[in-house]
Amino acid sequence: MKFLHVHRAGLPGGVKGNNVKLIIATIKPFKLEEVREALTDAGVRGMMVTEIKGFGSQSGHTEIYRGAEYAVNFVPKIKLEIVVAASMVDQVIDTIATTAKTGKIGDGKIFVLDVQQAVRVRTGETNEDAI
Ligand SMILES: Nc1ncnc2c1ncn2[C@@H]1O[C@H](COP(=O)(O)OP(=O)(O)OP(=O)(O)O)[C@@H](O)[C@H]1O
Ligand SMILES: [Mg+2]
Repeated sequence: MKFLHVHRAGLPGGVKGNNVKLIIATIKPFKLEEVREALTDAGVRGMMVTEIKGFGSQSGHTEIYRGAEYAVNFVPKIKLEIVVAASMVDQVIDTIATTAKTGKIGDGKIFVLDVQQAVRVRTGETNEDAI
């Protein structure tokens, strides 16, 4: 165990404990600007935004989108991918959860994953320095 720990700590970029997390969140499309603004205010400096289709526990069937019940199984959503220092994760989750919430079905999900390595291409900075 001791050897493993020392070995991992010595790897460039770090394999464990580099304290960078990836937050994947789905939100309702009309909430994007509000969520982006709240996250920027909370100190988030970058994010990826993708238009997706998906379904949750209702399988899309009963969800209302733009005033009409969506006829097919997949409902349009926005997927956010945000890489932040671990110390910011709770605040980012709270910001998304508060801002994206309408109280109706389909408000979205938030997932948190470990990031093994991050690099800023222009400077070569890594991990927390890269975000
Ligand atoms: N288990 C899951 N894995 C991956 N993506 C998911 C999962 N659940 C939901 N999503 C994504 O999140 C979007 C919104 O999900 P949704 O908010 O409807 O979840 P839910 O569990 O059905 O909650 P609610 O009952 O409030 O609707 C889906 O369209 C899908 O893109
Ligand atoms: Mg749902």
